[in-house]
Amino acid sequence: MNTPEPMNTPEPADGAGVPVVLAGARGHGHWHLDNLRRLQDKGIVRLAGICELTPLTPDEIPPGLGTPEQSADFGALLDATGARIAVICTPIPTHTDLALTAARRGVHLLLEKPPAPSYAEFRRMADGVAEAGVVCQIGFQSLGSHALPAVRAMIGDGVIGEISGVGGAGAWARPEAYFRRAPWSGKRRMNGVDVIDGALTNPLAHAVATALALADVTRAEDVTGIETELAHANAIESDDTSCVRITTAAGRQVVVAATLCAEDPDDPYVVVHGSQGRITFWYKQDRVLLQRGGHGPEEFEYGRTDLLENLVDHLTDGTDLLVPPAATEAFMRVVEAIRVAPDPLELPDEAWHRLPGEDRRVVPGVDGLVAAAADTLALFSELGAAWASPTVHPSPTADPSPTARPSASAHPKEVST
Ligand SMILES: NC(=O)c1ccc[n+]([C@@H]2O[C@H](COP(=O)([O-])OP(=O)(O)OC[C@H]3O[C@@H](n4cnc5c(N)ncnc54)[C@H](O)[C@@H]3O)[C@@H](O)[C@H]2O)c1
Repeated sequence: MNTPEPMNTPEPADGAGVPVVLAGARGHGHWHLDNLRRLQDKGIVRLAGICELTPLTPDEIPPGLGTPEQSADFGALLDATGARIAVICTPIPTHTDLALTAARRGVHLLLEKPPAPSYAEFRRMADGVAEAGVVCQIGFQSLGSHALPAVRAMIGDGVIGEISGVGGAGAWARPEAYFRRAPWSGKRRMNGVDVIDGALTNPLAHAVATALALADVTRAEDVTGIETELAHANAIESDDTSCVRITTAAGRQVVVAATLCAEDPDDPYVVVHGSQGRITFWYKQDRVLLQRGGHGPEEFEYGRTDLLENLVDHLTDGTDLLVPPAATEAFMRVVEAIRVAPDPLELPDEAWHRLPGEDRRVVPGVDGLVAAAADTLALFSELGAAWASPTVHPSPTADPSPTARPSASAHPKEVST
């Protein structure tokens, strides 16, 4: 992307950093408040305002952040505070409109993942942001891990031979209350608009984005085919136990499997398969395990660049932006494939049980299935899961129709080839 003009924001007299407004401060927004406090202490940013539906009480604001202005009117708050950056951490269907509200005012963005619930909404956001000439960082924080360039270098040096594909595995557990925490939780659509809050598009979206990044698949045209298998054990509309296989223009396959109903939850990872070995990357830990013929296992730990700090650096001195919207096009193809897929299969009663003493549903055997999918690049149905139901999507086109959506009532073995 073009290097932007350096920010013409006058340096605050007290050296207090770039003024930032946070939209959506409860939920995951708590993490951003803590991060803003950390960066404010370093003089990099200053929390100028908080946009929430109801104002935060003083005890909801971490000490040290002062008393930022608050308003439910995002545009008015941006105007009143003179914010140069907005962090948007609101429900998925609100992302595009809020991002464009900021962009129209020349305010740069850190926009939480997934950037949008459909490819059409993503394009509306990304094109609007580009037209406004502002910079947007998408909140895939694992893409700030220094493990990524290190693993790419290992791949480039042929350390594990010829790359055949990349797997991703996320076996997580979420209590039933997780799906009751917000009206949009576990929904595919709400009040006639797309939400697409599923395992692969929201909590474990990082596994998909990181696997695609290591497969060198970022742009829309890098994707030539997508197969999805979506299911849910919880009483929700969207999926909590799913896998996806992405075929790439370079002839590789990327398979990511995810569940929120693990028996024994563990840290998610991405694994790069080569003809002479494999590289496993635990993306939440910035930890890498290299296994190759003729060598013992080697483990590495890396640092990580914070995405808001990277955005400020980009605006200040032209440092490369880590996650511009263009780097998430392939991920958005996956979101779109999940959006247009038939509604996820409701797992039969015998496929799950409620864990005694814990408010959560478990799918017996799913931990092994998730690991096997990442290991063999096979889908649940190919691994013998009796309940799995594959959908093969047509090859993505340059501009997928926002309206194309098969009937949600059926679970066809194959929608189209
Ligand atoms: N990067 C990550 O690791 C990560 C982790 C969790 C969530 N997220 C993302 O963060 C976003 C928020 O997720 P969440 O789980 O915190 O959701 P949430 O519903 O729990 O919280 C969202 C907050 O936004 C507020 N809000 C809603 N509409 C608003 C509006 N128009 N203006 C201002 N505030 C508004 C709500 O009152 C709520 O406090 C989602 O995009 C989600 O995918 C990212």
